[in-house]
Amino acid sequence: MANPEEAIMSDKQPLPTGTQLSALDPNFRERPHEYLDRLPAEEPVHRDTELGRLFLTRFEDVRSVLSNRSLSVDPRKAPLGSFFRRILAANKPIATFEPSMLQLDDPDHKRVRGLVSQAFNQRAVDAVRPRIRAIADGLLDALGGRDSFDVIAEYAAPLPIIVIAEMLGVDARDFVQFKRWSDARSQVFNIARTPEQTAEMELARQGLHDYFTRAIDERRGRRGSDLVSALVSVYEAGDRLTEREIVITCDLLLIAGNLTTTDLIGNGVLALLRHPDQLAKLRARPELVPNAIEEILRCDPPVMQSGRLAVEPLEVGGSQVRAGEVMTASLVAAGHDPARHSDPHRFDVERADTSHLAFGGGAHFCLGAPLARAEAQIALPLLFERFPSLHLDPERPIEHKHVPVFNGLKALWVRTG
Ligand code: HEM
Repeated sequence: MANPEEAIMSDKQPLPTGTQLSALDPNFRERPHEYLDRLPAEEPVHRDTELGRLFLTRFEDVRSVLSNRSLSVDPRKAPLGSFFRRILAANKPIATFEPSMLQLDDPDHKRVRGLVSQAFNQRAVDAVRPRIRAIADGLLDALGGRDSFDVIAEYAAPLPIIVIAEMLGVDARDFVQFKRWSDARSQVFNIARTPEQTAEMELARQGLHDYFTRAIDERRGRRGSDLVSALVSVYEAGDRLTEREIVITCDLLLIAGNLTTTDLIGNGVLALLRHPDQLAKLRARPELVPNAIEEILRCDPPVMQSGRLAVEPLEVGGSQVRAGEVMTASLVAAGHDPARHSDPHRFDVERADTSHLAFGGGAHFCLGAPLARAEAQIALPLLFERFPSLHLDPERPIEHKHVPVFNGLKALWVRTG
C-alpha cells in the first residue's frame, strides 16, 4: 500500500492520460488506490488497451476467474504478442519454454502439483517452525546495539531465503551464491528489464538448474530429510515426476517464496509502525497475530495480480470475454472492494472478515501459503518484542520497489530507540 489511509481520494479524477495500471508506472505504484478505487463500480472489467488485457477489480469477479478451471495459465496457448505471452515467456522462444506448475494446465498441473504437495505440505512447514524462530532470532541478535537498520536488507530478505534454502537442503557454504541467483531470478516477471538483467537472469537460471541437477544426483545415493530428497523419493517411486520437473519445481519454490515473503514481512512492519494503536493491540493480545497477518495480506498483498487466459468465450462481471483474451485479476483491488469489506482502506488487526485473495485461488492457490504465514507469524512479533521502541526513521523516505507484479519496499529504515 501506499498507506491505505493516505490512498483515499476525496474527489475522483479521470485516469491521467498514459497512466498504466502497472507497478512500472510511478503514478500507479505510489498511489494504486487513486486509480483502482473507481473501477469496481464504474468499470469492473476495464479494457486496458495499452497492455492488451482485461483488468478485473471486484472481489467476486477476481475470485470466480481465479477458481475457473476452464481458464488457462499456459502462455503457449496465448495469442502471439499478447500480454500473457510477453509476461511469462518474454525471455525465450516459446518452443524452448519450460513451464513450472504455475504455468501448467491440467492434466500436467494436477500431476505435478499433486506430487510436489506430498513433499511440501503442512507437516513439512510445522517441522520447520522452530528453525524459522531460531533463524529470525539469529538475524535479530546480529542487530543488537544498532541505533538504526534497514528491516528489508537485514531481516525480511534474508529470513525467507535461509528458510527455503535449508528446506531444500542447500549447503551453508553455497548460501551467498544461492542468494545472488535468487535475486537475479526475481526479474522473471519484469517485461521491461534491461538486456543486462535478462542475461544475468538467464545465467542464474542455468546456475540454479545445474545446482539442483547435481543435488538430485547426490540425493539418489544419500537421501536426507530435505525437500530435494523428498522429491527424489517421489520420482523413484515411479510417480510420474520427471527429473527436469524436480529441477523446475526447486527453482519455482525458490523464486515464488522469497520476494513475496520478504514483502509480506516488510509491508507488515510498515503498516504496524504507521498504526501504533494497532501495534499496541498486538502487543497486548498476541493471539491477534494470525488475524493481523491476514489483514496485512488483504490491505497490502505482496503479489499485485494474477492472470488467466480465456480459451473459449465467457462472461465475466457482465462483460463478454473473447477466446484468446487475457484477464488480469487485481489482488490489490479485490482486498479493497467496498462490496466485500466495509471501510476497506482501514487497517484493523481485529477485523472480523479479513478475506483476501493474496494467495490467488482455485487450482493454483499458493502452495507456499502455510510457510509464508508461519514465517510472518513468527517474524513480526519477534521483531517488536526484541526492539520495543522501534519506529520509522524520519530521515529516510519510504520507497517502493518498481517491479511489476510484486508489491514491496526497496528499504525500510527504522530506529531502535
Ligand atoms: C506472502 C507470501 C506469498 C504470496 C503473497 C504468494 C502468492 C502466490 C500467488 C498469488 C500465487 C498464484 C495463485 C494463482 O494464480 O491463483 C502463488 C502460487 C504459488 N506459490 Fe506463492 N506466495 C507466497 C509465498 C510462497 C512461498 C513461501 C512458496 C514456497 C516456498 C510459494 C510457492 C508457490 C507455488 C509453488 C505456487 C504455484 C502453485 C500452482 O501453480 O499450483 N509461495 N503464490
